[in-house]
Amino acid sequence: MKKHILIVPGDGIGQEVTAVGKKVVEKIAAKFGHEFTYDEALIGHAAIEATGDPLPEETLVKMKASDAVLFGAVGHPKYDNDPSAKVRPEQGLLKMRKELGLYANLRPIKLFDELLEASSIKPELLKGADILFFRELTGDVYFGKRERIDEGNTAYDTMIYSKYEVERIARKAFDAAMTRGKKLMSVDKANVLESSRLWREVVLEVAKDYPEVQLEHQFVDAAAMLLIKDPRKFDVVVTGNLFGDILTDEASQIAGSMGMLASASIGDSTGVYEPIHGSAHDITGKGVANPLASILSAALMLDISFGLKAESEAIIAAVDATLKAGYRTGDIADASTPKNMILGTDAMGEQILSRI
Ligand code: NAD
Ligand code: IPM
Ligand code: MN
Repeated sequence: MKKHILIVPGDGIGQEVTAVGKKVVEKIAAKFGHEFTYDEALIGHAAIEATGDPLPEETLVKMKASDAVLFGAVGHPKYDNDPSAKVRPEQGLLKMRKELGLYANLRPIKLFDELLEASSIKPELLKGADILFFRELTGDVYFGKRERIDEGNTAYDTMIYSKYEVERIARKAFDAAMTRGKKLMSVDKANVLESSRLWREVVLEVAKDYPEVQLEHQFVDAAAMLLIKDPRKFDVVVTGNLFGDILTDEASQIAGSMGMLASASIGDSTGVYEPIHGSAHDITGKGVANPLASILSAALMLDISFGLKAESEAIIAAVDATLKAGYRTGDIADASTPKNMILGTDAMGEQILSRI
């Protein structure tokens, strides 16, 4: 198969882990006889430094012309510590999502059995947990009207959803539930927010087309609690942009670490595949970032954008085998991990490559 892949590493550990993700894709291409071509483009702080723009037009054009994008992360402490900065790395990410129409962000929370002890949750509550989040990605408070008023002393952001936005993400989530355990939890704050009441109304309407799916509604505060109390209760979850952002970072603890969670952003145009974690400046440049989220994002890319199921499974199997062999990065090591089995980013990548 011939495909053109755009590599967009971004900032911080995004650069470190995406380099490893790319190597894994190259190994798959060699092993399975595919012709993948690659290009690279700037986003985030790296793009601001080079061009002044967090999403240069050239990057967007390349994204639209590619079959898929393997993305790293954006962010820089310079902006995190300067709330007044007008141009910010994260604007590049949000604009990319909007411009590519990436309204559905799939975030699988899959616990590898070997990492039962790496989680901060009791192993007996975790074994077998397997959740698929559908986070709406182009609406909500992220894209609503925002303003500083009152001479800068008051600020507001608008949480806004339209029916069509809720309907299309709900359908994707119901479709996924039909291929899994036929359970769907919709998460909102309909006891308070009007946009959530619309959300619930639309989800209930869509549910009529999926009589086999057991639909449950939870308020976001209760859902946050249930995730930790009883993660195995969850199958597919559908929620808005902000709630999905928060709940999936929380859910990363079910999988052991932020460094384990991959995601697929899909919609009207090129699909973007990226870890859910950020640029992690606390560990940037140390060579210790866990590359598995990027590697597993590459697996999602092969499966979802290219339909290469066996290739995707080969990556997941290599991750599983590497963990079974006892190798860990620091974030997923526990008290019983021998020091010599704790690897850096590149060494972990080599272990995966050797098992593909
Ligand atoms: P973060 O995800 O970067 O880091 C949170 C914590 O998890 C840190 O302690 C970090 O060291 C750890 N961590 C994250 N990924 C890891 C990995 N692969 N291996 C080992 N440890 C890992 O979130 P943050 O600290 O809140 O944000 C840092 C910057 O990243 C900010 O500028 C933020 O805006 C940006 N950000 C970007 C994205 C994105 O590009 N999609 C996502 C989240 C945050
Ligand atoms: C994510 C990130 C982004 C988000 C930020 C960096 C804009 O946290 O991809 O989860 O909030 O969507
Ligand atoms: Mn996030």
